[in-house]
Amino acid sequence: MRLGILGGGQLGKMTAMAALQLGYDVVIWSEEALSPAGRATAFEVSGSLEDEAVRVKLASLVDVLTLENEFIPPHLLEWFETHGTPVYPTSATVAKIQDKWRQKQFLAEAGLPVPETMALESLEELRKAPEKLGYPLVLKTRTLGYDGRGTAVVRSPEALAQAVDRLGGLKPGHLMAETYIAFERELAVMVVRDRQGRVLTYPVVETQQPGYICRKVLAPAPISPQDAERARSVAASAVESLRGVGAFGVELFYQPGRVWINEIAPRPHNSGHYSIEACVTSQFENHVRAVTGLSLGSPEMVAPCAVMVNLLGSDHGPVSEDVLVEASALPGVHLHLYGKRLRQPGRKMGHITVLGQSLAEAEARADEAARFIRI
Ligand SMILES: Nc1ncnc2c1ncn2[C@@H]1O[C@H](COP(=O)(O)OP(=O)(O)OP(=O)(O)O)[C@@H](O)[C@H]1O
Ligand SMILES: [Mg+2]
Repeated sequence: MRLGILGGGQLGKMTAMAALQLGYDVVIWSEEALSPAGRATAFEVSGSLEDEAVRVKLASLVDVLTLENEFIPPHLLEWFETHGTPVYPTSATVAKIQDKWRQKQFLAEAGLPVPETMALESLEELRKAPEKLGYPLVLKTRTLGYDGRGTAVVRSPEALAQAVDRLGGLKPGHLMAETYIAFERELAVMVVRDRQGRVLTYPVVETQQPGYICRKVLAPAPISPQDAERARSVAASAVESLRGVGAFGVELFYQPGRVWINEIAPRPHNSGHYSIEACVTSQFENHVRAVTGLSLGSPEMVAPCAVMVNLLGSDHGPVSEDVLVEASALPGVHLHLYGKRLRQPGRKMGHITVLGQSLAEAEARADEAARFIRI
């Protein structure tokens, strides 16, 4: 089996590592050559996917394709499907997810809980948004947002006008607004659905995202079993309604007794990185199993608790391996560096995972380690 992965970042790299462990050949497509995932595998195809010659070459090298982000235009995924290379998740699933506003429309129509949303294309709609949604409200770019780029919480008319400008102005298909949810916590659930439609969910985790970027993940989330069951069931229904194949990260807002879906990522997700060491089968392995037609493995945890902390770039500069010298002195800390050659403030450079008997214990050790590791 030759698995192709569209995208060469850390998610592609960790997916590739799981596929290599199963004995598959892995081909990475990345716009630019020598991507972190491409350097971890023997085969890399680079160049624009808009170029048919690049697609033909890639299709000749793989049996099945998957993706590591939701940004590839669905018509390009469909090209592979109609030329004999299956893509999982399918172009139809990605088309329902790629535009956050359409995604929420789809989920609302499927009867799933989402914040109230509206598309913002005209001055008239901009005027109506605070009337309909109240302040604070949340302004988002409908496509291409990640790590909070493209999200603004707005508390006044002046801030709304500024945020519209900062996020690129009013134009067709570009912005949406939604109700601000005063959540107690943010949760995430990894859902994996195989080609036969069997679904499993990983434990519900808490994600902490100060400044709209994920810093820390606590597994399992410190919520009641009933609330965890509600979150799992909403997440599984969402992926079933999308007929998703592969791993899906379902981000949720939580108040006791209630959850809303924030967004769904059609791929392995930062909130599931802890599963590499903390679960019987990692999200990456189960993603590979799902898209290549194998049975899924158990998502159960092998330790009572786990905490994952992202290592975010502190400033601009080249990455030095000195960080390994420091980090290797820390017992019980699972270190992952993504092999990005340049660091930037806030860029996800790697992560650590610590297992423990309690969340408090694992979190204390993970925080201490993260303070010690400078990148
Ligand atoms: N409706 C909302 N109410 C309250 N907070 C929100 C709302 N929407 C987004 N946020 C906050 O902004 C963060 C980023 O929003 P969102 O997940 O839509 O953007 P993103 O750029 O795709 O994020 P990422 O790539 O990190 O998942 C959320 O995790 C949450 O903390
Ligand atoms: Mg998000």
